[in-house]
Amino acid sequence: MTALTQDTFGELEAIAARYPEARSGLLPMLHLVQSVEGRITPEGIEACATILGISAAEVSGVATFYTMYKRKPVGDYLVGVCTNTLCAVMGGDLIFERLKDHLDVGNDETTEDGKVTLEHVECNAACDYAPVMMVNWEFMDNMTPASAVQLVDDLREGREVTSTRGPRLGTWKEAERVLAGFPDGRADEGPGAGPASLVGLGLARQNSWTAPSADTQPESLGAGEGAPADEADSNPAEAAAVDQSSSATETAAEKDEAK
Ligand code: FES
Repeated sequence: MTALTQDTFGELEAIAARYPEARSGLLPMLHLVQSVEGRITPEGIEACATILGISAAEVSGVATFYTMYKRKPVGDYLVGVCTNTLCAVMGGDLIFERLKDHLDVGNDETTEDGKVTLEHVECNAACDYAPVMMVNWEFMDNMTPASAVQLVDDLREGREVTSTRGPRLGTWKEAERVLAGFPDGRADEGPGAGPASLVGLGLARQNSWTAPSADTQPESLGAGEGAPADEADSNPAEAAAVDQSSSATETAAEKDEAK
């Protein structure tokens, strides 16, 4: 039985009406379906197709293309562990294995209490804080196997958890409603970009580097034209920062795994 109500249909129509071409609203509409149904259901697909005047097959084609749309029910917290290259070598693989054991689930499976769905995810473009996890699409940075276990235990026990660079975490359905375009008022909560993300900006300011103007097209990027990169190679401050950052994280992951 579907949980979609007349109010849901009204909100789906309101999303479609935001766009000059109604079908451009399909992605947020699918998020709204997930916020109500907990997954993409056949009824949700039919509702989107009817409102947009397209076929169910077209909607289904989109819903099955993106991994953010789920065909199976998701727990209250969708916990993703980045196991892409950088996070993997920095401890992501260890974290994922530890969580599988701790939660007694495999990839894309949900704990018996319905609280946590575990999945491995690809690079979140957050490698400066590797190894990275995500909970309901919010970042959890510089994780270790021990902090990952603590995180899922806190979530399952209902303790308040805050993203390391974002707001208090709500449920997955609540996050899906935000992605559908209905703000929860938490957008400005928590920290924003942290020091690791701002290292490049700091170096640029320190060295008076500026971006080339939009209408400047260098004929080649041969030797002598990559001044910032050359300078960076010989910049002892940058080298020290990178070295310090990576060894600190490795040490944390290794110490944690040794526990
Ligand atoms: S490899 Fe994990 S965020 Fe990039």
